[in-house]
Amino acid sequence: MNQLVSGPWQRAARGAGLLGDDGSVAATIFAEMSALAARTGAINLGQGFPDEDGPAEVLEAAVRSIHDGVNQYSPGMGAPVLREAIAEHQARFYGLSVDPDREVLVTAGATEAIAATMLALVENGDEVVTFEPFYDSYGATIALAGGIHRTVPLRAPGFEPDLDELRAAVTDRTRVILVNDPHNPTGAAFGRETLETIVELAHEHDAIIVTDEVYEHLTFDKPHIPIATLSGARDRTVTISSGGKTFNTTGWKIGWLVAPHELVTAITAVKQFLTYVNGAPFQPAIAAGLRMPDSFFTEAAATLAAKRDLLSGGLERAGFDVFDAHGSYFVVADAAPLGYPDAVAFCRELPLMAGVVAVPISAFCGPVLKDEAASLVRFAYCKRVDVLERAAAQLARLG
Ligand SMILES: Cc1ncc(COP(=O)(O)O)c(C=O)c1O
Repeated sequence: MNQLVSGPWQRAARGAGLLGDDGSVAATIFAEMSALAARTGAINLGQGFPDEDGPAEVLEAAVRSIHDGVNQYSPGMGAPVLREAIAEHQARFYGLSVDPDREVLVTAGATEAIAATMLALVENGDEVVTFEPFYDSYGATIALAGGIHRTVPLRAPGFEPDLDELRAAVTDRTRVILVNDPHNPTGAAFGRETLETIVELAHEHDAIIVTDEVYEHLTFDKPHIPIATLSGARDRTVTISSGGKTFNTTGWKIGWLVAPHELVTAITAVKQFLTYVNGAPFQPAIAAGLRMPDSFFTEAAATLAAKRDLLSGGLERAGFDVFDAHGSYFVVADAAPLGYPDAVAFCRELPLMAGVVAVPISAFCGPVLKDEAASLVRFAYCKRVDVLERAAAQLARLG
C-alpha cells in the first residue's frame, strides 16, 4: 500500500470497513442498491430521503433570502435568527432553556455536528459506546478521532437495549455514549428507563452523552423524550438535530447542536476548520420552519404514521415478519419467513423479483449483530402514497 496513505486513520478506517485493503474507498451497500434501483427502474425504498417537497413557507423563505442578498458567509456560530429559533424550539417543545448565543452551534447537517463533536471530545484510545445497528457515520467518525467503538445490540422485536448489556459496555474508559433516538435503522423510540439508565451511567463513569435526534418530530404512538430533559442530563449532553428530516430539505444540510457552553466552544474549535459555515440563505428558512405552528409538526407525524401503516401492511401481506416502528421513517422486516436467511442476497434479488429496492440491516452492523440480524431488511416509507401503494402491490408478488 502507498506510504502516503498508510497513517493511523487509514488503519482504523480499514478496520471499520471504510477502506478496501488496497486503500480504495469501500463500496457501500447503499451505493450498490441505489445503482441497482437506477439500472432496473425499481422503486427505491433503500435510501432515506423524501420524494416530496416540504412546507411552502420554508421553501419561499429560502428564495426570499437569496433575493435579499443573504448569500455570503454566515456568522461562525450560525445566523442569529436560526440560533434564536432553535432556542425557542427547545423551550416550546421540551421546556428547555437554551442561550442562543452560548449554547447553540449551527452545522453542515447533523453529519458535521457528529463529526466535529467526536473529533473535539474523543482522544486517541477513548471508548465510544453506541447501539448496534448504528448510523454509518458513527463508526467512521469514531475511527477518524482515534476512538475505540463499543456497541450494545438492539434486538428484534422491540429494539430496546438490554440494560445489563448497556451497563457492562459503559466503563471508566468510556468518553462518549452516542445515542440515536428515534433510531435509524430500527424505527425504535427509546423508553424512559433506557434513557435514564444512559444518564445514570454517564454520571457514574463521567462520560458525555451525545444524542442524535434528527427524527425528533417523526415519532408515532409514543412521545419523543429528549435525553437532555432528564434529571442530571443537560450539563453533560450534546443534542444534535437537523432541518432535513423535519422539513423535507435533506439537500440543504442545515443542522445544529445544543450543549453547555464549554462543550460548544470545544466543538466550534473543530467545526470552524471543517466547513467554517454553510447554507447562509437556508438558515433563515429553517428558522421559519422551526417557528411553524404545532399543527404542522403533528400533521407531519400523522402523515408519516399513515405511510408506515401502508408499507408495513404491504410487507406483512407479502409474508415478512414486520417489526413495529415508532419513529424515524424506516421499518424493519424479516425476510427469513420468505425463505431468505441472508438479507444481502435477498436485497440483490428483490428489484428483479418485485421491482423494489431495500437495504440489509447488516449494513448498519458491526460484528456483534451481523449474524443475528442477517435476515433483516430496512425499508424507507418517506415516499409518496402512490409510490408506497405501488411498492406494496409489487411486494405482494413475493407471497
Ligand atoms: C440517524 C441519522 N443521523 C444523521 C443523519 C444525517 O443528517 P444530515 O443530513 O442533517 O447530515 C441521518 C440521515 O439519514 C440519520 O439517519
